[in-house]
Amino acid sequence: MEATINGITLHYEDRGQGLPVLLIHAFPLNSAMWQPQLDALAEEFRLIVPDLRGFGGSTVPPGPYLMEQFADDMVALLDHLGLEQVVVGGVSMGGYVTFAFWRKYAARVRALVLSNTRAVPDTEEARTGRENNAQLAEREGVGIIAESMLPKLLSPGASADLRERLYAIVGRNQPAGIAGALRGMALRPDSTELLPQIKIPTLVLVGAQDGISIPAEMHTIHQHIPGSWFTEISDAGHLANVENPTHYNEALRNFLQHL
Ligand code: MLT
Repeated sequence: MEATINGITLHYEDRGQGLPVLLIHAFPLNSAMWQPQLDALAEEFRLIVPDLRGFGGSTVPPGPYLMEQFADDMVALLDHLGLEQVVVGGVSMGGYVTFAFWRKYAARVRALVLSNTRAVPDTEEARTGRENNAQLAEREGVGIIAESMLPKLLSPGASADLRERLYAIVGRNQPAGIAGALRGMALRPDSTELLPQIKIPTLVLVGAQDGISIPAEMHTIHQHIPGSWFTEISDAGHLANVENPTHYNEALRNFLQHL
């Protein structure tokens, strides 16, 4: 499906009925990474799964894409769908967008799902790395980004089949979108001060073998959000929702059923 919002076309899936849940994808993927959740959970919940600007089937405007701008797009999509309040969740970069959404549009949030993400901003070194990768993508295309990033996104035990599927998803993105998101992530603010102010139901999820948003760091996020739920997904790295969808879906379903 497509929505014209904020001067761009946003591609999204809108599946199922019931409690509406907005799920925001990680970098450098797109909405296709939520297929295991669409397959398993759309019979119980309404899943809204967009391609952020710059990704998948959405328009690729010039970057940088600030996390706040992504959040503005998400709220415009909810307006387009006539939805006042939804559960908002995301993996990694999708989590950065979730923090931005909460910062600006808290009244539109029924509950939060913070998955394999970080509340801290980038270090100077990380910012430099992002700019180098943005230029690399612009020069050489997305294949090189997929090759360098995918090993970090999965646990060593991930199957060759899963690696190939993810490689194909990344390959459907464009260099300008990849570069725009890298430069936008480098500019994201610190969200640690938001954590104690989150007074709505929140689920914190991490892959047991996540090397990017490591379990100890995600556990600290959980400890700072009053009353939050925490689940460590076994046999999974950074993209826990695709690596162990059975455990991930069970944790997500259990949380959503309690709302
Ligand atoms: C992601 O999975 O979205 C990225 O690892 C986020 C990041 O590069 O900070």
